[in-house]
Amino acid sequence: MDNFEFLNPTKIIFGRGTENQVGREVKKFSSSCLLHYGGGSIRKSGLYDRVVASLKEAGVRFAELGGVQPNPRVGLVREGIELCRKHKLEFVLAVGGGSVIDSAKAIAVGVPYTGDVWDFFTGKLLPETKLPVGSILTIPAAGSEASHSCVITNDEGMLKRPLNMEMNRPSFAIMNPELTFSLPPYQTACGVSDIMAHVMERYFTLTPKVDFTDRLCEATLKTVIGNAPIVLEKPDDYDARAEIMWASTIAHNNLLSTGRIGDFGSHLIEHELSGINDVAHGAGLAVVFPAWMKYVQKKMLPRFVQFAVRVWNVEQWFDDPERTAREGIRRLEEFFVRIGMPVRLGEIGLGESHLDEIVRKTLIGRGETVGNVIKLGREDIRGVLKLAL
Ligand code: NZQ
Ligand code: ZN
Repeated sequence: MDNFEFLNPTKIIFGRGTENQVGREVKKFSSSCLLHYGGGSIRKSGLYDRVVASLKEAGVRFAELGGVQPNPRVGLVREGIELCRKHKLEFVLAVGGGSVIDSAKAIAVGVPYTGDVWDFFTGKLLPETKLPVGSILTIPAAGSEASHSCVITNDEGMLKRPLNMEMNRPSFAIMNPELTFSLPPYQTACGVSDIMAHVMERYFTLTPKVDFTDRLCEATLKTVIGNAPIVLEKPDDYDARAEIMWASTIAHNNLLSTGRIGDFGSHLIEHELSGINDVAHGAGLAVVFPAWMKYVQKKMLPRFVQFAVRVWNVEQWFDDPERTAREGIRRLEEFFVRIGMPVRLGEIGLGESHLDEIVRKTLIGRGETVGNVIKLGREDIRGVLKLAL
């Protein structure tokens, strides 16, 4: 196990009715906030009205900015920054999924900065200060509610870039599984795919002797694999929704990274898929991840065997470990298909003609390779993508 430091300061407020506490929670930080949300699901579900009532009851003054689109754009982030400055708002409240929370995080770092917020996403410099952010989560998926990451797409060139830093972690996350009952099956499945990818990015490591976090990863995967079919069949199953929701936070709050090195090459490749074609992040991952596994499995065969046996209950062929490993990957792919995810580039409107652009964009600003455990160069990224054709 490697040395590590772990601090996750996000307060989790979990369970039925917890969204009604939001006014009080914001008030602990400020008497004013920007209420930030997406394309309308929170109005349809009635959540918007409950949030507004809670803010008013707590005496929190607010301005609002809706319209965050999946794969959030820097254009709207700039609008949010201006709005905060104009109304002197001191807190950003995100009500929605990863896109809304990431947009809120970007606004929060942009308000005190005199330059253009995109500077932080090109790696030009790191923010020194920011407004506090809190969220009410409506889709378990990205894990942004407690993560140190924030992913924004630049409308010019559709380049999608993360800003990773500890300061990004929100002050609180309100998580009521009932708020996820209204998720359509496709969005639910995209979330499941993203959660699983966050765990697997950490699971496939070359760090030896990490039994405890291996077991945590396997438990998280098995929980999600077991509960996903239940919520797809019965969207208002509270207990199954709750399991998936809590798993989504644990999958990406870095607990599962402690003492080990994760990879994240698949994520960086996928970000360019969703940048180019505006595909949902989870759907893109269901295409890229199994392809990445097929490409790299020989480099860490024992780990792929362990994954197959422990996560997918594959019979272990001791005289043919590659067969065991392949079967684990096949079962993952089969699972993605079963929950309605695409597993080939063609299913998300991409093909051979897009490979050059994806490879080029994946490497922009990153030198010669992506991925921490297995370093993928230009030809490797192309090799992975070819396996997804
Ligand atoms: O916009 P509305 O109307 O709210 O609809 C949303 C959106 O269309 C809908 N939705 C959300 N909650 C709902 C609902 N519909 C009905 N009922 C509900 N309860 O779902 C759609 C997708 O929402 P989005 O926020 O885009 O989903 P997700 O949470 O998967 O976020 C994806 C974004 O997060 C980034 C991704 O790259 C992508 O841009 N990620 C952020 C990470 C982070 N900050 O740590 C890590 C991830 O790896 C990921 O890269
Ligand atoms: Zn992800």
